[in-house]
Amino acid sequence: MQVTLSNAPITAIVADALLVLQFDADLRPASASYDAIRASNAQWLADVETSGEAGGKPFETTVLHRPQGFQAKRLILLGAGKAAKFDSATLRRLVGAAVRKAKSNGAANLALALDPALATAENIAAAAEGVHIGNHEVDAHKSKKDERTELASFAIVAAGDHAAAVHQGNVLGEAQNFTRFLANEPGNILTPPVLVAHARAMVAASEGLEIDVLDKDRMTQLGMGSLLGVAQGSPHPPSLIVIRYTPATPSKDHLGLVGKAVTFDTGGVSIKPADGMEKMKYDMAGGAAVLGAMQAIAKLKPAVAVTAFIPTVENAIGGNAQRPGDIVTSLSGKTIEVLNTDAEGRLILVDAIEYAKRQGVTHMVDVATLTGAVVVALGHIHVGLFSNEDGFRQQVQSSAARQGEKMWHMPLDDEYREYLKSAYADIGNIGGRWGGAITAAYFLKEWVGDTPWVHLDIAGTGWIDDNKPYMPKGPSGVCVRTFVDLALSWPA
Ligand code: BES
Ligand code: MN
Ligand code: ZN
Repeated sequence: MQVTLSNAPITAIVADALLVLQFDADLRPASASYDAIRASNAQWLADVETSGEAGGKPFETTVLHRPQGFQAKRLILLGAGKAAKFDSATLRRLVGAAVRKAKSNGAANLALALDPALATAENIAAAAEGVHIGNHEVDAHKSKKDERTELASFAIVAAGDHAAAVHQGNVLGEAQNFTRFLANEPGNILTPPVLVAHARAMVAASEGLEIDVLDKDRMTQLGMGSLLGVAQGSPHPPSLIVIRYTPATPSKDHLGLVGKAVTFDTGGVSIKPADGMEKMKYDMAGGAAVLGAMQAIAKLKPAVAVTAFIPTVENAIGGNAQRPGDIVTSLSGKTIEVLNTDAEGRLILVDAIEYAKRQGVTHMVDVATLTGAVVVALGHIHVGLFSNEDGFRQQVQSSAARQGEKMWHMPLDDEYREYLKSAYADIGNIGGRWGGAITAAYFLKEWVGDTPWVHLDIAGTGWIDDNKPYMPKGPSGVCVRTFVDLALSWPA
């Protein structure tokens, strides 16, 4: 389903439900759509306002069937909160919530009225995304789907030419849902070779991407001992997926996006506790975010070259699994003492990072469900952000802020290096009890060197544990929007 645009008068919109934003009564801004409701349904509006049924509180919905003077079957006042706090991120969620509600109330054809003051490109793209995000379901494997009405159409009603913004919203919405679909696939179904197949299918369906998959033999020849050590306990062979986007005019910069894709993380011999282990199917959410971003980048064609590097393995247990105390040699030549086989994400990432450097990337962002410690530090609200260079960090943070993805800058001082000391190899893969998200990031930094780099730890934000009004529980698709924004806003 694609979101469409209409510039017909809202009274002429034919739909099962027409959504109109209702801001908090306190300092409610002037609104032509709101006035149009008042013009023909004054008594109803006065009644729901004075009774307190409709006060403009966020996510509140108040329905009027068969409104006077409107073609739409229903009018829905969609509570939008305080006007001063309203932004595109709020709108994205409001629209997602309205879609979810409509699907449970039998409304298949929806429209959203946006007054001229709100009809910016940023808001329109966010509203279109919100439709896709809210429409995404997580019951792909249920033979009897949850009771609902399928959304058939969604029109954004706004004056002016907003085709580009709606297109961007459709592309970004679909990309996030692709990421969420992949991250929700269970470990028995989505193995590394199956992720490779999804990547190949995405590239085949896109225009302007090239794919190169390094298999186990090629990685052995190259010397990716760190990545291969993690993979050796699984019957499913590992890969390093490389996807290239090249702009029409060659760019001086080259952005590398590196995404952790552990299709299931048992912890290996340093096995995880049983409680909650089923969630470790989303330990490939970083790689999935990079795949989603590449799908959108192929369609939106930024001016900068972007290459994705997605190391994919299963961290399994078995007779051939690596042991605590094993020493592996990474692609860069640095040796690592594997003190804990559950700190596997960093082990696969460093070989991908070294490979990305050899491919000539000038800037690098990696994204990974890397540590439980980042969840302790930041909960499920902020992505943990680490960097070795302030200019590039600010570029990534600006994109995240524009896209309503919260990211918190964490420290990475050289004093943390000491935590990673090993008696028998160049470095150990864990840093002890304290500052676990930082020592994991520091480990990566040892391979990154001087390339401007940002590390995003999404262990807490890649998955939501409870249903939200705008999104069912499950993978969030976080970072897709930030990556696409980063590429599209790249300085010339
Ligand atoms: N995939 C996990 C991190 C994780 C934890 C992701 C919770 C999502 C939710 C990672 O591979 C891991 O196991 N990290 C260990 C590192 C430790 C052994 C130093 C952790 O955080 O416990
Ligand atoms: Mn682990
Ligand atoms: Zn992991």
